[in-house]
Amino acid sequence: MFSDHPPINLLDYEQLARDKLTRTIFDYFAGGSDDSITLRENSAAYDRIRLRPRILVDVDQRNMETTLLGKTLSSPFIVAPMALAGMAHPDADIAIARGADNTPVTISTLSSYSLEEIAEAAQSPLWFQLYVYRDRSITQKLVERAEAAGYQALVVTVDGVVAGNRERDRRNEFKLPENVTLKNLYDAKLDRVIALPGASSVAAYFSSQIDPSFSWKDLEWLRSITKLPIILKGILRADDARRAHNHGAAAIVVSNHGGRQLDTVPASIDVLPEIAAEIGDAMPILLDSGIRRGTDVLKALALGANAVMIGRPVMWGLAVDGEEGVRRVLEIIQEELDTAMALCGCPSLKDIDADLIWNSIREQ
Ligand code: FNR
Ligand code: LAC
Repeated sequence: MFSDHPPINLLDYEQLARDKLTRTIFDYFAGGSDDSITLRENSAAYDRIRLRPRILVDVDQRNMETTLLGKTLSSPFIVAPMALAGMAHPDADIAIARGADNTPVTISTLSSYSLEEIAEAAQSPLWFQLYVYRDRSITQKLVERAEAAGYQALVVTVDGVVAGNRERDRRNEFKLPENVTLKNLYDAKLDRVIALPGASSVAAYFSSQIDPSFSWKDLEWLRSITKLPIILKGILRADDARRAHNHGAAAIVVSNHGGRQLDTVPASIDVLPEIAAEIGDAMPILLDSGIRRGTDVLKALALGANAVMIGRPVMWGLAVDGEEGVRRVLEIIQEELDTAMALCGCPSLKDIDADLIWNSIREQ
């Protein structure tokens, strides 16, 4: 398929996906909010961090195994939840959950196949990402279905009380292609997104259906209706991380939603140290937004993350080559992490610590 140059890194996949997708669809996947300041910062922040490798460590045998929520993972990666994968490839979330092999995949509330169809076809462990609908009975039903279908965790996204201002989507009058529906919402008759001239129909759907009144006290309700561990995704402050823990969250995802929600918030990697200092080992800390290289992953682990989520690059893999593209994207970043570990003198994840970050040493 790639006659001259097969893609060798995640940015190559982005280029190929850009060539393949329509402008409107690419813009929805790639876009940020307002001026995309946070979107750019998500890459720039990693570019600013310099590594400080250890030499003459025996790194002949390396492994990146880790334990998360009581399960052993062969590497510290999770696929981030992403809506509307059906616009990238007809096999959508099913291809993601097959191509990910044993990497856990987080399925969005707004997936293009039903959570049961995905569970049926998946090879990977599955987590379910929850958007809280204004109609609590819809929300409750989603949670019960995810638990019944064998999903292992509930990822509650807390940075999307309303849709971010995605101006590319507004200019494109973004609407769903005929063949893409929100299949989890079929029973609730909310599976179709009505096109709106002059606006992003997805943003309008989102802001009309998702409950902006959901707050800390409602987490108790959520905990009362499920036995699944609850992971809060979209935390950017140490005090919120502490509250998440106090309210029974099993883990958090330090995230700015890939720069798609509130613009001008910092890169997640830049707020990670304060959050890690607050939380210590009390619960696992995951992180996403802007991870494109093995060295980015190493930096996140060094500064206190237990694992990372990968978003858009997985969508690019899916768009370019379906299940195989997803597999390859995840393999590439694992290979890059392996190389970075070897070159930093880290045979295992427990050897990766803040001492490998040159910037933090200079600031002391
Ligand atoms: C997302 N994200 C997201 N998050 C979420 O909790 N529920 C969702 O349905 C979606 N949908 C979604 C669609 C698309 C196209 C993108 C790009 C992102 C955010 C996602 O889970 C994650 O936080 C970011 O994508 C991480 O940043 P990178 O890796 O894309 O830079
Ligand atoms: C997005 C929403 C659906 O980022 O989370 O597009």
